[in-house]
Amino acid sequence: MNDDMKIGVLLSRVRVEEKWLLEALDKRGLAYDRLDDREVQFNLDAPGAWADYDVVLERSISFGRGLYATKVLNAWGIPTVNMAAVAETCGDKLATSTALRTAGVPQPNVRLAFTPESALATIEEMGYPVVLKPVIGSWGRMVSKVNDRDAAEAILEHREVLGNYQQRIFYIQELIKKPGRDIRAFIVGDQTIAAIYRTSGHWITNTARGGQGSVCPVTPELHAICAAAARAVGGGVLAIDLLEDPNRGLLVNEVNHTMEFHTTVPTTGVDIPGFIIDYTVAVGRRRAEGASAR
Ligand SMILES: Nc1ncnc2c1ncn2[C@@H]1O[C@H](COP(=O)(O)OP(=O)(O)O)[C@@H](O)[C@H]1O
Ligand SMILES: [Mg+2]
Repeated sequence: MNDDMKIGVLLSRVRVEEKWLLEALDKRGLAYDRLDDREVQFNLDAPGAWADYDVVLERSISFGRGLYATKVLNAWGIPTVNMAAVAETCGDKLATSTALRTAGVPQPNVRLAFTPESALATIEEMGYPVVLKPVIGSWGRMVSKVNDRDAAEAILEHREVLGNYQQRIFYIQELIKKPGRDIRAFIVGDQTIAAIYRTSGHWITNTARGGQGSVCPVTPELHAICAAAARAVGGGVLAIDLLEDPNRGLLVNEVNHTMEFHTTVPTTGVDIPGFIIDYTVAVGRRRAEGASAR
């Protein structure tokens, strides 16, 4: 039944996540190729063996490699999980914020400025504390809480002098007074399959930074905002980070497109890799059926 489906898995290192995904493919008796992002090559004029894939699951550790590989594949009409346009939006915090804004999904107030002077003026207008983040990045790296003008001046100067082009784009967010935790919810297609609280004594609650995961019930309210956020960025397999504001309720902080889940699976007991593979197969099958109908 699956004989005519060809699946590629683009990856870098095989982390726990990729090991589980490959096991889920094996368990379903699906044939697939492991495509190492250190070895792959693309000739835009000659897709060659790439054209045989009905779908490619993208699991690169590198945002750039995953993005550019999926751009080429999508241009050739090969669907990817996730699609390049989704990675492009999710990989950039400002692009995510504008997509959420367009779709009317609640999020913290975001401001943008391009020089230390204009950023400082914006921050002073917002009032302290604020959060400064690089537009591209993860694991909470270089995400800074700015408590006063002295700190703002120091960080803005460091970013201007030491930073690369992206670090001179000043993405500023209001600090949400969350209850010592935030929420990470996993969306696959139109389902919210699992969610965890990430609790930490530190205001940055990433599990990569020591945040502790515990089960968060997927309420209709949580599902509704996650589904809206997923739709806003183009849908697929996504992890939505939410902050609980004491007055406004759930706000979407960011959307991740190649998420880790090695702590969430044991915490929730949800077979996240199984869901991802079933979704990927469904995407590939749609393409395979479209091809045979042509
Ligand atoms: N505006 C904010 N208010 C409160 N906490 C925040 C805010 N922005 C980020 N955080 C905390 O910092 C963590 C990392 O920020 P995030 O925007 O998710 O960056 P990254 O992409 O590096 O994970 C979040 O998971 C959250 O715990
Ligand atoms: Mg995050």
